[in-house]
Amino acid sequence: MKNSMENIISLAKRRGFIYPGSELYGGLSGTWDYGPLGVELKNNIKQEWWRRFVRARSDVYGVDSAILMSSRVWEASGHVGNFSDPMIDCRKCKSRFRADALDIAKGCPQCGAKDFTDARPFNMMFKTNAGPVEDTASAVYLRPETAQGMFVNFKNVVDSFHPKLPFGIAQMGKAFRNEITPGNFIFRSREFEQMEIEYFVKEAEWERHFATWQSAMEEWLSFVGLAGKYSLREVPEGDRAHYSKRTIDIDFDFPFGREELYGLAYRTDFDLLNHSKASGHDLWYLDEETQEKIVPHVIEPTFGVDRTVLAVLVNAYAEEEVPSGDGAASDGRARDVRTVLKLPARLAPYTVAVFPLVQNKEQIAGRAREVYGLLKEWVAATWDGIGNIGKRYRRQDEIGTPWCVTVDYQSLEDDTVTIRDRDTMKQERLAVAELLGYIEKHIS
Ligand code: GAP
Repeated sequence: MKNSMENIISLAKRRGFIYPGSELYGGLSGTWDYGPLGVELKNNIKQEWWRRFVRARSDVYGVDSAILMSSRVWEASGHVGNFSDPMIDCRKCKSRFRADALDIAKGCPQCGAKDFTDARPFNMMFKTNAGPVEDTASAVYLRPETAQGMFVNFKNVVDSFHPKLPFGIAQMGKAFRNEITPGNFIFRSREFEQMEIEYFVKEAEWERHFATWQSAMEEWLSFVGLAGKYSLREVPEGDRAHYSKRTIDIDFDFPFGREELYGLAYRTDFDLLNHSKASGHDLWYLDEETQEKIVPHVIEPTFGVDRTVLAVLVNAYAEEEVPSGDGAASDGRARDVRTVLKLPARLAPYTVAVFPLVQNKEQIAGRAREVYGLLKEWVAATWDGIGNIGKRYRRQDEIGTPWCVTVDYQSLEDDTVTIRDRDTMKQERLAVAELLGYIEKHIS
């Protein structure tokens, strides 16, 4: 299979995108470490998201709240009572499964026995203790969603900025869930990242804002190269989270099946109301026009960062037959296979790679280093001088670098360089002074 998970996992490991967590000690299930290229890809996704949904808007306020939160937050939010998956055990081999993901008629996937316990709820929050005493009073939870950090800061943001409805609070960061069966690479982990917005609206207007946010999410999906690659699913009442009156899941066809990528939920006034009651603090909002005190309702677009990384990688991965010598051979006889990540240019770990045509000619290598230095000031640039040019193109294709610039003999005469496009594999000759303008014009 051209973009099977094995190929993607193997490329991610080999080229420094994503490594198994705690690998040196045999791994820790459900955790992954981002390597030097993976962190660039992930940061680019996060930065673009923040730019689009926070900085470019005047109605959304960013926060960065603590991961450790008081257990009272999670009692009020309903997570202590409701945030659980049904768990079932095999009585024979003691393996544990998510009851909703297991066909008990087929038997235990580990040992084949058909002797299971009844399903019982397993709370997915990670609990720990703050301070040296381990008792109920010191119990805290690692947040299972970034959302609550925004609800508990609702009043702070209102007091500091006096925003008018509708307005939003946004945050991105780690979330932790003790998943019964983590798996499918970074799709379901125990530690992952979310990018979320809580958008506060008047109750009567929730449907309109729900539709607007659905469009905004779809525009983002186009931006990350996934236009036409996802499907929308109305989540039926019994399957929705405890706080939601309407949810649409945005699903993506991963190599292991169609699964949830993002979600859009109408959380009503559930969270603010419950935090008001439980904390004793008034989380009303004073409508200046009507002088009415209201509890705003909430539309919540939620985006998994790691699932975005995975969908973007799956979508970008291709193995293509190309003329050997990277298009230089036009006779079409000798052919080669290249692995290429056709990442949107703005998300690629490196925007441009710079090569000296030959390493051992000091003038060429020197000028190439200068061009590299110049580009590096403005865009994510990398240097490669090892092996022949064809091999360097293959290496950059494999990590998704949109452009490769080569300094050659002609560069020394007229200060031009070649710039080669990852997707078309075509080269153009440009003056060094035109390079940044070219990249700026073609980046998407
Ligand atoms: N605040 C709402 C909320 O947390 P959710 O559907 O439980 O809703 C939101 O999670 C998003 O977080 C999902 O759409 C998915 O992208 C991501 N996500 C959830 N659990 C995950 C896991 N175990 N590993 C990786 N990403 C996960």
